[in-house]
Amino acid sequence: MTEPTYLHATRVAYDTVAVDYAELVPPLFEGDLYGRAMIGVFAQLTRALDAGPVADLGCGPGHVTAHLQSLGVTAFGIDLSPKTVAVARRRYPDLRFEEGSMTGLDLADGSLGGVIAWYSIVHTPPELLPVVFAEFHRVLAPGGHLLLAFKAGDRLRHLEHAYGHDLSLDVYWVSPDHIADLLTRAGLPVDAHLIREPSQQEKPRQGRQAYLLARKPVQPKARTGDTIA
Ligand SMILES: C[S@@+](CC[C@H](N)C(=O)[O-])C[C@H]1O[C@@H](n2cnc3c(N)ncnc32)[C@H](O)[C@@H]1O
Repeated sequence: MTEPTYLHATRVAYDTVAVDYAELVPPLFEGDLYGRAMIGVFAQLTRALDAGPVADLGCGPGHVTAHLQSLGVTAFGIDLSPKTVAVARRRYPDLRFEEGSMTGLDLADGSLGGVIAWYSIVHTPPELLPVVFAEFHRVLAPGGHLLLAFKAGDRLRHLEHAYGHDLSLDVYWVSPDHIADLLTRAGLPVDAHLIREPSQQEKPRQGRQAYLLARKPVQPKARTGDTIA
């Protein structure tokens, strides 16, 4: 099957910026107190559930995977860009990082206690998000948790320069209500959301940032004697 053009373009772009991204972005994560608070809740929920490891999908240079691990969560990272995966492995040699796409994961059904996608759905055209959310649903164990971070809004920006490199990369801002609706349709109802304004360090054009916690419900077991009418 041929790969969609946007996946190829995203991989090429992140291969180009992998080393510089790893210098520039992880320090910003240190200052994202609201986002880290949501990760703290997600870590508590997945630890309590104890239904399998957490996959950090679109893990970039691995700092979020490492943060989860520091919170007592067994976590590993997957990223589309081989050069980004190589950077993550160099930065965190004790953690597991693999190449792959959240559109089709090499993971068994129901094998994860949690999925985190931290600003990694922002390059997926919104009309293709149902494919990604169906994949999240497939790999999560019943009761498993999903945490998304993304740019809240309704626009597309085409980047031709980022992190000191020329490239070609689409970035989508999507409304949190629309994401919540897509998640619910995928069988992942939302438990909590947090939307924050751009911080003083961020450019106002970055807009609002959204964090959404969703969950794959546990199907109640049919009791003996129950009938299906
Ligand atoms: C904006 S960066 C975020 C990286 C990291 N999560 C962070 O917070 O810094 C987006 C990352 O998602 C990855 N990515 C984009 N689409 C992906 C896909 N379909 N499957 C896996 N990774 C993907 C990119 O290669 C890139 O590393």
